[in-house]
Amino acid sequence: MSNIRVMAENWYQNAVFYELYIRAFADGNGDGHGDFRGAIEKLDYVKSLGVDCIWILPMYPSPLKDDGYDVADYNDIHPDYGTLADFKAFLDAAHERGLRVVTDMVMNHTSDQHPWFQEARREPNSPYHNYYVWSETGEEYAGARIIFLDTEASNWSYDEAAGKYFWHRFYSSQPDLNYDNPAVHQEMFKAIRFWLDMGIDGFRADAVPYLYEREGTNCENLPETHAFLKKVRQLIDEEYPGRVLIAEANQWPEDLLPYFGEGDEFHMCFHFPIMPRLYMALKQHDKTPILNILARTPPIPAGAQWLTFLRNHDELTLEMVTPEERQWMWAQYAPEPRMRLNLGIRRRLAPLLDNDKRRWLLMNALLLSLPGTPIIYYGDEIGMGDNIWLPDRHGCRTPMQWSAGQNAGFSPAGETYLPANDDPIYGYQVANVAAQEQDPNSYLWATRYLLQARRQCPELQHGRLEFLDIDNPAVLAYWRVSGEQRLLALYNLSEQQQSISLDLSTYQGRAMTDLLTSSSQELLTNWPVVKILTPYASHWLRF
Ligand code: NOJ
Repeated sequence: MSNIRVMAENWYQNAVFYELYIRAFADGNGDGHGDFRGAIEKLDYVKSLGVDCIWILPMYPSPLKDDGYDVADYNDIHPDYGTLADFKAFLDAAHERGLRVVTDMVMNHTSDQHPWFQEARREPNSPYHNYYVWSETGEEYAGARIIFLDTEASNWSYDEAAGKYFWHRFYSSQPDLNYDNPAVHQEMFKAIRFWLDMGIDGFRADAVPYLYEREGTNCENLPETHAFLKKVRQLIDEEYPGRVLIAEANQWPEDLLPYFGEGDEFHMCFHFPIMPRLYMALKQHDKTPILNILARTPPIPAGAQWLTFLRNHDELTLEMVTPEERQWMWAQYAPEPRMRLNLGIRRRLAPLLDNDKRRWLLMNALLLSLPGTPIIYYGDEIGMGDNIWLPDRHGCRTPMQWSAGQNAGFSPAGETYLPANDDPIYGYQVANVAAQEQDPNSYLWATRYLLQARRQCPELQHGRLEFLDIDNPAVLAYWRVSGEQRLLALYNLSEQQQSISLDLSTYQGRAMTDLLTSSSQELLTNWPVVKILTPYASHWLRF
């Protein structure tokens, strides 16, 4: 066993995650699809960024109608991505480099191509029939919202073979599993053990709010759902201590809290609501949305942690904002209709920020200095763009841009699973790893620098958060404090220069260094200190 297992038990609380899509990362066998063999070759690059853990999107056999979130076999690898042996080699190679690996576990639904569903629809007397949720009328659970609003008219679809309707919260090609059937629990436990036995470091559990259905509710966050998830945690604690369970629950903070349980459910939850508010604050030049959502975020149990992010493989979700805020966000960040999808925005980080380095740095510095374990989405570290002309969320899942060569250096194939982005600003000819390696002013260098700076500051990893009361809405200032260590994070959210006065008299005589600009100041004279903040300035000041 590699020594990664003997590292700190709560490793995930201070880590940085990198979200990696195997199909998009590197094509090792030249068939136009990324695979584990290709990804192994790129692990040194991933390590060089300064991240600690890789989260990979579903890698199971699948018809890929939802990029693998439609699982056809829980105990194997998609043939496009390689074999189980390739996966194991990837895992070992990651562990050798001190990188952990977390995979997606899709609990709520399978693909309609899964043999369970095929058997279920064909044979009503089969035990598999009861693995899914059926109805004669398709009228039950009318209180459940539709998530994929742009494509699905109902959560029920009629199956000709079964002569009944089946329940699905996502695409109609993704029938929901029936958690009222204990056999389904056993199947999930089996799949979970299979991957943990292989050595993975944990799971991101997909779409967990929707496991159970109950009439008269919105079928989200039900007590039965929490009871099942606690059993999953018990399995981890008893059989695989040190592995992490992550909840993907796109919910308000008060509804997320129960997913931590009393420290007996998930170790981590994505903090969905903070994400759009970072973008809001930036465009409104006003910190209020950030302060408000953090004020609404309850304390979490010891041993728990939030996962924070700026972008991921889905649309930038606007589920956790008011309808007015959503309209405003769309108007600001998705002016063209094709930029919108369901209740979100299908664009990548750099284009959302108009390729403005200052704003990119500010958003990343915020992400890395606010509480939580941050995740970086592959390609955002080099300012990759999106292709809004591709369907669904594909435009944010194009090949990783390694070089200006053929297919962005991703693959030697004639045709790739999606075309590499060739946008004049964000495309591979301009935005690629090889070019940025040579350029100290690149996004790539900035990413490495920020991650290295964060690593040096334990207070940024697990310190408490103390806001400074600054009478200027455009300036966000807070301390992160851990023991004797304190770091002052200071941001100008506006495009105008701002001046603020800071009373740092308590620290008189000590020198502060700005980790982000490398300038140093003695805090000796003239209180309060008047600080001029240039447009979109970011500072990490430390004694
Ligand atoms: C959430 C995943 O992030 C998304 O990509 C997927 O489509 C749905 N869950 C359904 O599995």
